[in-house]
Amino acid sequence: FNIQGFQENLIAWYQANKRNLPWRENQDPYRVWVSEIMLQQTKVDTVIPYFQRFMEKFPDVYRLASADEQDVLKAWEGLGYYSRARNLQSAVREVVSEYDGKIPDNKEALGKLKGIGPYTKGAILSIAFQQPEPAVDGNVMRVLSRVLHITDNIAEAKVKKQFEPIVTKMISKEDPSSFNQGLMELGAMVCTPKSPLCLFCPVQEYCRAFLKGDQENLPIKSKAKKPK
Ligand code: ADE
Repeated sequence: FNIQGFQENLIAWYQANKRNLPWRENQDPYRVWVSEIMLQQTKVDTVIPYFQRFMEKFPDVYRLASADEQDVLKAWEGLGYYSRARNLQSAVREVVSEYDGKIPDNKEALGKLKGIGPYTKGAILSIAFQQPEPAVDGNVMRVLSRVLHITDNIAEAKVKKQFEPIVTKMISKEDPSSFNQGLMELGAMVCTPKSPLCLFCPVQEYCRAFLKGDQENLPIKSKAKKPK
């Protein structure tokens, strides 16, 4: 497998085709953090206006840390999963009190903050700090299941963990941000769950599923049925 060729094609495609999303305007770790929390259970189109309003109301960690919880929840109204907002504010308060307002740029400290799991940690480290860390979500698992013809069931929690060393091996050391966001963007725009647009795919030549005609059968995602 030609990792360098894969990286080059993916990153060039991402640079040329990425959507203009408000959290891509700069690499501010606070904006990356807020956007990734919002995007975890919510679609991009829904998140955009919430993200913009949130940034106007709470433009930095200090403004969010000192806000009333009720005002934060109000700004979150409609997004759902309100523990995300509570955990975010609690973690931002810790950043202010323990880290002088600077969002940590290492996995140990980041991973201890409320609401930051392996995905969010990897997204912040790669997108805001250009560190070669994996950020594995459903899009990334779908793309890599197809490219590498991985047949594990992605509905199983342990399988997400298995993708992390794979991304760590494949990720561009020159531009981890574009690599990870390129995988996410490819999953959203081309390597879609149904009828993927393989003819427009920048990594078609590297895709084992495409080469076998298996793209519609991967990833395997089946939830164990509950007994009746
Ligand atoms: N989904 C999760 N993170 C994203 C990002 N940074 N851009 C677009 N979609 C995403």
